[in-house]
Amino acid sequence: MEDKKIVYSGIQPSGTFTIGNYFGAMKNWVKLQDDYNSLFCVVDMHAITMPQVAADLRRRTYESLALLLALGIDPQKSILYVQSMVPEHAELTWILNCNAYMGELSRMTQFKDKAQKQGENIRVGLFDYPVLMAADILLYQTDYVPVGSDQRQHVELARDLAVRFNQAYGDVFKVPEAIFGESGARIMSLQEPTKKMSKSDENLNGFISLLDDPKQIVKKFKRAVTDSETEVRYDRENKPGVSNLMEIYACASGASLEAIAEEFSGKGYGDFKLKVGEAVADTIRPVQEEYKRLLADKGYLEQVMRNNAEAASRIAWRTLAKVRKKVGFVTV
Ligand code: TRP
Repeated sequence: MEDKKIVYSGIQPSGTFTIGNYFGAMKNWVKLQDDYNSLFCVVDMHAITMPQVAADLRRRTYESLALLLALGIDPQKSILYVQSMVPEHAELTWILNCNAYMGELSRMTQFKDKAQKQGENIRVGLFDYPVLMAADILLYQTDYVPVGSDQRQHVELARDLAVRFNQAYGDVFKVPEAIFGESGARIMSLQEPTKKMSKSDENLNGFISLLDDPKQIVKKFKRAVTDSETEVRYDRENKPGVSNLMEIYACASGASLEAIAEEFSGKGYGDFKLKVGEAVADTIRPVQEEYKRLLADKGYLEQVMRNNAEAASRIAWRTLAKVRKKVGFVTV
């Protein structure tokens, strides 16, 4: 790899992504791959910390990979791979486990939230989720980790584990830094615009999936919640619905918020919502076409998976070999 800084991020193979994921994170990944050596990982090992149906998980892994490719992640520029195909992740997780504290993992807010869903029998894997994530990041001597702010605590743990390990055994890991979607937008629900847009929203009108039918998309925007005024003006505090739509329109069209306010001055919300819906549908349509084409080409997807897992493994192994030596494993 060329001498550029290293960017690493992971995404769960959930199958559907929203325009919030796209405008907030993945669009940024596509840009990052020109300036960094980037690795993007479909984290199926993280997925099984919650109950999964095997066939669904496998299908969604293909779908997620196809969607990332369709969005513009270029497997010539980035290493786009599936976590479980690179066994170094599991092995480093074990070694890091032996240096992680029960106390620090117990404080993870995501664990506390998700543990409630597992009732009495909370899985060890769920508890260990952040250590696996630390292994992902540390294996590649990552400089920057672009993530949503909900992952701040996990990246912090990765840093702590890196520093602790380096102090105990000598320098092996680069200490990574989180970057929080600087140019990424924060897209809110279309129905409750003070809440983040989420694909697990029970109200299907609240979010736009990247796989929604274009007609459906326009319809959802028509139903988007606004306010009782008529002015298209950016004011997150007092006009969260309209501001969110403006932000989405800005992402989809490239226009500035000022230009958007100008464009719709005196026009009312109906027209505005229609334009936003059409702009989003137009952005997504080519992605959907490419996605369908790729999904039908399983051979190609599998070739990408194989080649990139190999490329990832080569880098990961360099780190793991050092770690194994430091902790006293025999190598012959
Ligand atoms: N936990 C992250 C999320 O849910 C996904 C993830 C797994 C990740 N491994 C990672 C993100 C490594 C960044 C780096 O969003």
